[in-house]
Amino acid sequence: MPEARERWTWRGAFVFAVIGSAVGLGNIWRFPYLAYENGGGAFLIPYFIALVTTGVPLMILEFALGHKFGAGAPIAMRRLRESFEWVGWWATVVGFIIITYYAVVMAWTIRYMVSAATLAWGEDAGGYLFGQVLQLTDSPFTLGGIPLPVFIAFVIGWVLMYLIVRSGIKGVGRVVMISMPLPVLLLIILVLRGLTLPGAIDGINYYLEPDFAKLADPQVWLAAYGQIFFSLSLALAILIAYASYLPGDAEIVNNAFLASFVNCGISFLAGLAVFSVLGYMALEQGVDVAHVAAGGVGLAFVVFPTGLGLLPAGASLFAVLFFLLLFSAAIDSAFSLVEGVVTSVADKWNLTRSQAVTAVTLPAFLLGTLFTTGAGLYWLDIVDHFINNFGLVLVGLVECIIVGWFWGAKEVREYVNARSEIKLGPWYEFCIKYPTPLMLTLTLIWSLYKELRAPYEGYPLSALFLGGWAVVIAAPIVAYVLSKLHRREVS
Ligand code: ALA
Repeated sequence: MPEARERWTWRGAFVFAVIGSAVGLGNIWRFPYLAYENGGGAFLIPYFIALVTTGVPLMILEFALGHKFGAGAPIAMRRLRESFEWVGWWATVVGFIIITYYAVVMAWTIRYMVSAATLAWGEDAGGYLFGQVLQLTDSPFTLGGIPLPVFIAFVIGWVLMYLIVRSGIKGVGRVVMISMPLPVLLLIILVLRGLTLPGAIDGINYYLEPDFAKLADPQVWLAAYGQIFFSLSLALAILIAYASYLPGDAEIVNNAFLASFVNCGISFLAGLAVFSVLGYMALEQGVDVAHVAAGGVGLAFVVFPTGLGLLPAGASLFAVLFFLLLFSAAIDSAFSLVEGVVTSVADKWNLTRSQAVTAVTLPAFLLGTLFTTGAGLYWLDIVDHFINNFGLVLVGLVECIIVGWFWGAKEVREYVNARSEIKLGPWYEFCIKYPTPLMLTLTLIWSLYKELRAPYEGYPLSALFLGGWAVVIAAPIVAYVLSKLHRREVS
């Protein structure tokens, strides 16, 4: 029997869930280093422009689609125009691919909460991560084994996501009451601890010292646009799904501004926490901050653990808090990715929630196991790079064109203005129709140029093809096939 469509049960649940989805690993391990590398304080300019001209407009557009058509991405697109269903599937497929590896990184954070209690990495955090924890092999094609502790953490992560998403949108609404504020609170504690350390100010100077010359480099703009997409959870079927559970009289514009500004504020705060500890660490080790600065896996699992290990007091406590911060930021992004796919599947085939959750989590879990092997880190890195630089931006571009030009940017503006306190001006239509698609196209061309100039991180071309190009190209094809399958939606 079909279940009646659920609704968020309390007023703030939707915006809590959207912020929870947005605030994730991207804010903590990606933003600070990205800002540092791309002009420090000057990076905030392209970042802010990307946020206002693309991030917020696309978020509003996705909210409007979900709200008006009351369905996940594919059926919402279909109700806009039948031939657009595949675009909704494209976003869904990209979300599905991301969750397969995002869950693995989340598993590492669980694994490290245990390691942190005893500062198990000792003096050699790199050796500990790559050797003991990940058992990294020497090539992407040598899979090696699956380290048991990582696998157990991976199973725990998936069981949690399964239970949360299966509990329905009401359950998700309850969980985000804790999972959204918790990382913010932990981040504030870490910022306060970081800023009171000797050397912190040098770290912050490195992080924020503006280098305006960098703004002439297209790479910097590419980084800003890419980060906005990933960080705001755009083009992943999540926001359309979440908005489809809103009641008819819900606020759209306020929520979009609130969620995106809070998300970016948290990224900025994360930079303060990260760089103050890096400043302290550089002072302790008698090196330059540039020498210790890092992003991604290197920051979270090598540099930061080393820095926390040097703290004068409470080192293991702060290390546990740091990994709890990463985990609590990751979990609501992770289950939002699952929720996006589950809503798409449930709406198309009119499945019960349990059926849809099983149909999504089981294959995602099995595929994700690849990333827990000894070669997992290589594949994770390749898939993440390609899906972020091409997958997300391509879906966003197509969404913009379809909605901006076919549904009509004007219609979107009128639709949201009719139900929002903040009214959007004509700038909104302009952004959706011209600068946003233009910037996204330029971003894609620049990414392609970079990719063809030098193979990413020197990986073998066969690995880049399999984990990168093939995945990016297969996503819209799979999406098209899914859109053609017979449907059982309730209209
Ligand atoms: N928005 C999520 C993040 O930043 C996916 O990690």
